[in-house]
Amino acid sequence: MAGLPLPMIPRPITLFFIVFFAFSPSAKAAQFSVLSYGAKPDGKTDSTKAFAAAWAHACASTQPATISVPKGSFSLGQVRFQGPCKNRAILLRIDGTLVAPSDYKVIGNAKNWLIFEHVNGVAVSGGTLDGQGAGLWSCKNSGKGCPRGATLPKRQKCKESKSLPPETALTRMAFTFNHQTGVTILNSRIGTGDDCVSIGPGTSSLWIENVACGPGHGISIGSLGKESQEAGVQNVTVKTATFTGTQNGLRIKSWGRPSNGFARDILFQHAVMNNVQNPIVIDQNYCPGEKNCPGQVSGVKISDVTYQDIHGSSATEVAVKFDCSKKYPCTGIKLEDVKLTYKNQPAEASCSNAGGLASGLVQPTSCL
Ligand SMILES: *[C@@H]1O[C@H](CO)[C@@H](O)[C@H](O)[C@H]1NC(C)=O
Repeated sequence: MAGLPLPMIPRPITLFFIVFFAFSPSAKAAQFSVLSYGAKPDGKTDSTKAFAAAWAHACASTQPATISVPKGSFSLGQVRFQGPCKNRAILLRIDGTLVAPSDYKVIGNAKNWLIFEHVNGVAVSGGTLDGQGAGLWSCKNSGKGCPRGATLPKRQKCKESKSLPPETALTRMAFTFNHQTGVTILNSRIGTGDDCVSIGPGTSSLWIENVACGPGHGISIGSLGKESQEAGVQNVTVKTATFTGTQNGLRIKSWGRPSNGFARDILFQHAVMNNVQNPIVIDQNYCPGEKNCPGQVSGVKISDVTYQDIHGSSATEVAVKFDCSKKYPCTGIKLEDVKLTYKNQPAEASCSNAGGLASGLVQPTSCL
């Protein structure tokens, strides 16, 4: 990710200490360095097994645990950080860079890169995550034998191949969270071909602070509502995030089909958008490939979503888009101090089935 135009992340030290005290009360935390499990900071050696082994030990620890990733570059395939664990305070402290294999075939067929599942109380602090999208894109351009990861849903394909930089045209998510409670991500820079952070069903009490995202698809709650019986998402805070050249900024996305899922009590606060295609978006009509959902409406109920102090530039005219379910309109959407421009002019907002209120300066003019 060298050369990405990401701004300096403010106050890393202060934030580091917050995490430090919250998650590793001094000498009590058991320490696991990925180096002692054979990880190599040379950017080439596959360190997947070492990370998995360090996680297994940290997860089995009955006292709080810290996994440290020192400076240097670590090549990582897909890693599943899976619970349940024996403690509720695992800190993954990354001082270096995690790099997806440049040979995209290694995880080309895996949609997700770093997956956290069924864990209570995990914090990821620091680090640069480099999803390395370029290789897969050239394969896709050359035509044959690319992994599935290269194939985008039809609807998006046309749009993206025209307007996106190559790195973003690959399907690979950096962080994925499913069935998680009490996760914190702090001070990370994430570049990937898909979502920088993907927040799946059953996630609650997630705190993301001081994250720089780009290239990638932004921070996404969803896709939700793929299943008819599905756990909801609640109490998610995304605070102080910078998006640079991403497809989306802050997104909530659900399938356009019946489900009992929901997303509620979501706070998006202090975000800067630099040339983002869809800075603020709720899309409840997700239907990739137009299969198994056309003509249906999303059952996912979205409520109490606040956007506070969001500013910057949109790469498209419509910077705020709430496309909610016809059957279950979005409720309690709040826009406070939002200022998004398109080509240095006020951008536009579009609403369907969305209710709520706007306060402070809101530009584009709210359509709630
Ligand atoms: C919401 O999540 C935060 C952490 O992100 C936690 O401190 C807080 O207690 C949670 N609130 C509720 C009502 O669960």
